[in-house]
Amino acid sequence: MKAAINTKYGSPDAVKVMEIAKPVPNRNEVLIKIHASTVNRTDCGFRSAEYIITRFWTGLVRPRKKPLGCEFAGEIEAIGENVTSWKIGDRIVGFNDKQFGGHAEYMTLNENETFAQIPDNFSYHEAAPLLEGAHYALCDIRAAKVKNGQNVLVYGASGAIGSAAVQLLKYFCACVTAVCNSKNVELVKTLGADHVIDYTTEDFTKTGQLFDFIFDAVGKSSYGQCKPLLKKGGIYISTELGKNAENVFLALFTSVFYSKKVLFPVPSISRKDVEFLIDLAENGHYKPVIDRMYDFEQIVEAYRYVETGQKTGNVVIKID
Ligand SMILES: NC(=O)c1ccc[n+]([C@@H]2O[C@H](COP(=O)([O-])OP(=O)(O)OC[C@H]3O[C@@H](n4cnc5c(N)ncnc54)[C@H](OP(=O)(O)O)[C@@H]3O)[C@@H](O)[C@H]2O)c1
Repeated sequence: MKAAINTKYGSPDAVKVMEIAKPVPNRNEVLIKIHASTVNRTDCGFRSAEYIITRFWTGLVRPRKKPLGCEFAGEIEAIGENVTSWKIGDRIVGFNDKQFGGHAEYMTLNENETFAQIPDNFSYHEAAPLLEGAHYALCDIRAAKVKNGQNVLVYGASGAIGSAAVQLLKYFCACVTAVCNSKNVELVKTLGADHVIDYTTEDFTKTGQLFDFIFDAVGKSSYGQCKPLLKKGGIYISTELGKNAENVFLALFTSVFYSKKVLFPVPSISRKDVEFLIDLAENGHYKPVIDRMYDFEQIVEAYRYVETGQKTGNVVIKID
């Protein structure tokens, strides 16, 4: 089968589409024929080994000959003899950042892993980007314990995480102020944001508004900058570690001594989370934003684009 293999840490040019052995499911696994995947910031982090710790998963000295691709949408082509919850032909979408494998024509997964049925109203290409950005957003929104009517600011509302966060926060009945570039103002309004700040013309720290929760979905702000905008008891979360990993230390420090707090939740995903997000999508509360689609053979170009840090929402890879 064809798979995109990262042959060296560093530049995206080291990713090569090549032939590798088609996997065979064991008795508890399903074989998934992949129709669509994405290139996202999680894949990019593991591909480049920007944080050395990721090499414990992908290979210490050089990458193992295994495809990346943490998001995948496809159909079940075969099942192991013990598999009871799936049947051949089921259309599924999933997220897996331990084994990866979506950048290939086939992958195998234990039947209990984090994937679920694709809603009927979604094609494979529309479904592939359902989970990466959204599960990070969900994890952070839950950590902040957002309540009905609370004032929330989403900085970087046009990225994969930010565009999902705006929609999820509206589902949880928050009042959302979204910050993005001029070119994305209209898009972010369609996602449901109550107020939009164009960061090229307005300083989001100078609006005079106070927030219960500030969610920096692109990790470009700092707590020092955002603290004056938080109400008493307010929460700040960034998706990045911050300068000198300050967000981790601030999370420890503010948890004990201060009313305004920095949180740094460790992201996780369960089958229930996958089903919850799919249910929202099926019922029209959440739709992943798709920026570009690339053919499988163009995956290096997709990596280059995603690594500019300027994509809007998600970048889909057509495998079929
Ligand atoms: N904590 C974790 O486990 C985890 C996991 C995955 C990703 N991440 C991190 O989370 C961040 C977001 O991921 P993502 O996939 O959502 O990113 P993304 O889709 O690549 O974000 C791109 C968006 O960021 C916006 N942006 C770029 N620079 C900006 C700035 N200075 N101010 C405001 N917006 C800016 C761009 O919008 P404009 O065109 O409007 O500027 C673009 O739409 C990344 O830094 C990524 O490394 C963390």
